[in-house]
Amino acid sequence: MIASPGNVVLLCALRTGWCVQACVIAALETFAGQASAATGIAARATRSISLNGLSLSSPWSPARPDLRGRRMIGNITAAKFLRFPVTSGSGKTAIMNAPVLSVEGLRTHFLTRKGVVKAVDDVSFSLGAGRVMGLVGESGCGKSMTGYSIMGLVDPPGRIVSGRILLNGEDLRLLSPQALRRVRGSRIAMIFQDPMMTLNPVLRIDTQMMEAIQAHQSIDRRRARERSREALGQVGIPSPDERLRAYPHQFSGGMRQRVAIAIALLNRPDVIIADEPTTALDVTIQGQILYEVQKLCRESGTALVWITHDLSLVAGLADEVSVMYAGKLVEQGEAAAVLGSPMHPYTRGLILSAPSRNVRGRPLRQIPGMTPPLLQLPKGCAFRDRCARATEACLTEPTLTANGSRAVRCFHPHREELAQESAGSTA
Ligand SMILES: Nc1ncnc2c1ncn2[C@@H]1O[C@H](COP(=O)(O)OP(=O)(O)OP(=O)(O)O)[C@@H](O)[C@H]1O
Ligand code: SF4
Ligand SMILES: [Mg+2]
Repeated sequence: MIASPGNVVLLCALRTGWCVQACVIAALETFAGQASAATGIAARATRSISLNGLSLSSPWSPARPDLRGRRMIGNITAAKFLRFPVTSGSGKTAIMNAPVLSVEGLRTHFLTRKGVVKAVDDVSFSLGAGRVMGLVGESGCGKSMTGYSIMGLVDPPGRIVSGRILLNGEDLRLLSPQALRRVRGSRIAMIFQDPMMTLNPVLRIDTQMMEAIQAHQSIDRRRARERSREALGQVGIPSPDERLRAYPHQFSGGMRQRVAIAIALLNRPDVIIADEPTTALDVTIQGQILYEVQKLCRESGTALVWITHDLSLVAGLADEVSVMYAGKLVEQGEAAAVLGSPMHPYTRGLILSAPSRNVRGRPLRQIPGMTPPLLQLPKGCAFRDRCARATEACLTEPTLTANGSRAVRCFHPHREELAQESAGSTA
C-alpha cells in the first residue's frame, strides 16, 4: 500500500464485519486528515476502496471506466460479474416459486456451563427453485450455524432444539443418520468457509471428487472422472487433468476453495449453502464462480443460500436477502427492496456503514457499540442498546412481522426511502 499524506489510497479488508471495516477506514481517514493538516497538502478526492476483494466506488470520486454501468441498489454498488440470463433456464425454472427449502422456527442452542447460547433463535425462511438468498449479518450472529443446522452438522454441546427443515417437503430432522448422509452431497450441499473442512489432506483430489459422485450416482469411474474434470474447469482450475492427480497441500488456499466449490457442484444438488466461499479469492476468479453458480441455479433450479458480509456481492447476486442479528432474523425481503429501503434500524445501519455511501470530509458512519455476547443480550429487543429509535416498547421482544414478501422484527421500522434520510444520522 502506498499512501501519501492526506490521501487514502487503497484498503483491502477481508473477513471482517462492516462496522470493523468502517472503523478501520475512519481511523485511516483521521490519520490522513491529520497528516494533511500537518503538511498543508490539501486532501485529494480521488480514492478507491476494495472491500472483500471488490472495488466500491465512492460517490464523490470521478467515474472510473471499469465501474461505469454497474448496477446500483440503493447506494450499494453491485458486485460486477457476467450474469447468466434468467430466460436461458430449463423447465425447472418454471417452478421457481415452489419452495425447495423451507426452514420453520429453527432454534439451535449450545448448552454451556455458563448458560444457554442461542446461536440460532427462531429462524424461518423459504427459498424457491433457482432462487438465490443472501444471508448477511455481523460476525457471530449465527449465519454459519444456520447452515450447519440445515445440513445436520451441529456438534455437541450444540443441538437443534426445535423447528422444521423441509427439503422439497421432506423434513430432514426426521431422517435417520444414514438417510441424511444420502441427502447430503447429492440433494443438498454446503461450501464451507474453510475448504479443508471439505478436503481430506491425505487423499488425491480425483479420489475425493470421484468418491463424492459415486457415493450418490451409479456411474463408472471413467464418467465420474470426466464429470470431476468438468467441475474443476467450471471453477477456473487450469490443467484440470494434471490437477486431479494432486493432493490438497499442492494447491494454494484460493485453489483449494475452488476445488471445494467444484465438489459442491458435482451432483447438481437442489440446494447449495455457500458459507463465504469466495472471500479469499481474487475478483476475477470470484466473478467466474459467481457466474457458474448463477448458471447452475438458472439452468437446473438449484436454490442457493449465500452467506456473506459483502453487501455489494448480495446486490449483484441475490434475489432475496435475510439479515441476522444475535441469532435472529431481523429483516427479510427481495434484495432490491431490502437494500434500497431497509426498514430495520440494524439493516439500515449496515447499509449506511458501507464505505461507498460515505462522503469525504464527513465522519464515516457506523453502528454505535458492539454486538452483545449471546449470553448477555439486553432485555427485549437485542439491538436495543445500539438503536437510536429504541423506546420503552422495545423492552418487550419484537416478533418478525410479515407484510407481503417483506418481514421485519421491529416496533418502529423505518418507512422512508434510504435516500431521504438526513445525512447526519446513524442507525
Ligand atoms: N461450540 C460452541 N459453544 C458455544 N457457542 C458457540 C459454539 N459454536 C458457536 N457458538 C456461538 O454461535 C454463534 C454463531 O456462530 P456462527 O459461526 O454461526 O457465526 P457467524 O455469523 O457465521 O460468524 P462469522 O461471520 O464470523 O463466520 C457465535 O456467537 C458463537 O458464540
Ligand atoms: S424494536 Fe426498538 S430497539 Fe429494536 S430495532 Fe426496533 S426500534 Fe430499535
Ligand atoms: Mg460464519
